[in-house]
Amino acid sequence: MVHRKSKQPPEQTTEQGAVAPPTTSAPADASPDLDEQRGSSVATGLAEAQHGDLPVLVEFLHRFWESHGAAGSQGRVVPAERSLLLDHLLAEPFPRGPSSIAEVLRQAETLLQRETVKTSHPMFLGYVTPPALDIAALGDALAAIVNQNVAFGALSPLGTVLEATAIRWLGQIINYPATCGGILTSGGSDANLYALAAARSRLLGAASATDGNYGEPRRLRIYCSDKTHHSIDKAAILLGMGTRSITRVQTDAKHRIRIDALRAAIKHDYNSGNWLPAAIVGNAGTRLCCAFDDMAALRDVADENEIWFHVDAAYGGFLRLATAPPEGVENIHLADSVVLDPHKLLFVPFDCGSVLVRHSRDLSNCFGTEGEYIEAKSPGGLSDFANLGMQLGRSMKALKVWLALKRFGRDGFGLEITRLLDLAHYLAKKIADDVRFELLGPTSGLALCFRWRGDGRSGDEHLNVLNSRIRRSIIREGTAFIDEVLLEGKTGFRVCMTNFRTTTTALDALIEAIAKLGTTSKTMGEWSRG
Ligand SMILES: Cc1ncc(COP(=O)(O)O)c(C=O)c1O
Repeated sequence: MVHRKSKQPPEQTTEQGAVAPPTTSAPADASPDLDEQRGSSVATGLAEAQHGDLPVLVEFLHRFWESHGAAGSQGRVVPAERSLLLDHLLAEPFPRGPSSIAEVLRQAETLLQRETVKTSHPMFLGYVTPPALDIAALGDALAAIVNQNVAFGALSPLGTVLEATAIRWLGQIINYPATCGGILTSGGSDANLYALAAARSRLLGAASATDGNYGEPRRLRIYCSDKTHHSIDKAAILLGMGTRSITRVQTDAKHRIRIDALRAAIKHDYNSGNWLPAAIVGNAGTRLCCAFDDMAALRDVADENEIWFHVDAAYGGFLRLATAPPEGVENIHLADSVVLDPHKLLFVPFDCGSVLVRHSRDLSNCFGTEGEYIEAKSPGGLSDFANLGMQLGRSMKALKVWLALKRFGRDGFGLEITRLLDLAHYLAKKIADDVRFELLGPTSGLALCFRWRGDGRSGDEHLNVLNSRIRRSIIREGTAFIDEVLLEGKTGFRVCMTNFRTTTTALDALIEAIAKLGTTSKTMGEWSRG
């Protein structure tokens, strides 16, 4: 215990809130007492300063949250393109001294309110980016406050058990066996990488750790449909396999991988003697149109060839919770590994993905290392999460997942996902019933692609430019956020129904805004004349 000799005056706070230096300094002959010095300098006084900040932070959070709730669902969806605030921020020099807590928070509040894309606005319908549930956002904040490192059970027994629980519950969503394992990741891209790394590890055994891809004379091949998310390409690059190791197989009219073409591709590779089939990647919800491959058929092909079967169910997997799940979602559990992103349809804030494996050892065989760290067995014989993935230092992401799942339960999420599917059907019908619009691609899931075609007299070249311009106008005016797609040579819009604040009123307004811009748009000739 440190014996305190004399009390140093605490840091003074000016009226404006700026932290002023203390008025007296320790005498030169005073014996060094590190604890005493803490409050006397900016550099070492963080603990005291933090303590003093606490009431201001709590008050700020309360006010901000209330105003964000309202601001997040009103006004512009996307901030104005030209922002002096951001220009200023870009040029801001590294501060030499401290700022008052009040001033820092004031600036942060202005930036957050004015310069963020409002993902909780009912007209935010882009990518697969839902708003966050308040309870899950709080989970992130609480996890940060206790700052757990969920690397080993000994460092965070609670974090380890919470993560194992979250993985077990995620497994139940897709009907995975109780023996499954998994890990929370930064998102679906990382999770796809982990799954393919595990597949390679299973195929090549211990040699995959020592020799990488070089112990095997043939090149490894991954098979997936031509509608597969590009994170599979990134994974192949990072695994040293390169994108040429991916065979993108043709799809049918429903965007499902063609099983006959897949079988032919695998056979061709075996016969060539140059390629070793390593894994099949199925889609449970393709990125663009939310299409589902035939999982049972993919399992058969994988078994025939004794190769790994992985499913990217980043958002589509959660449709299993709906009262009438779309065809194809029921057999995800047949896969050796599955990606499910809680930051998609569990509405937890970014970032939070997951990869589940039928057998936990498939991850530990791939990622477990005999490092310099002592592996302390986690409670209940659980694996240490540092041995199931790439990260050593890991945040307690599981808290937000656990809070969200506890708060709303399977039924709560099921109801919301059913509502979102109903909204997707509502929009699809509205578009199909309006001759000025055209649906693009299949529309069985949450995502919908379509375009404006007006009176139907313009060709694709004109319509492609027009649809692209309409979308840019909608975003520029701050009306809504939707994606642009190019499907079979046709440029159009993509809406993904992952926003629990979206309503039929918002969808009606979106269609009206597109129609208004489409009807009043210039002709091609007028554009080219400026
Ligand atoms: C089907 C699919 N897989 C993978 C990903 C990548 O996920 P993340 O953005 O979490 O890395 C996405 C992203 O939208 C996706 O839609």
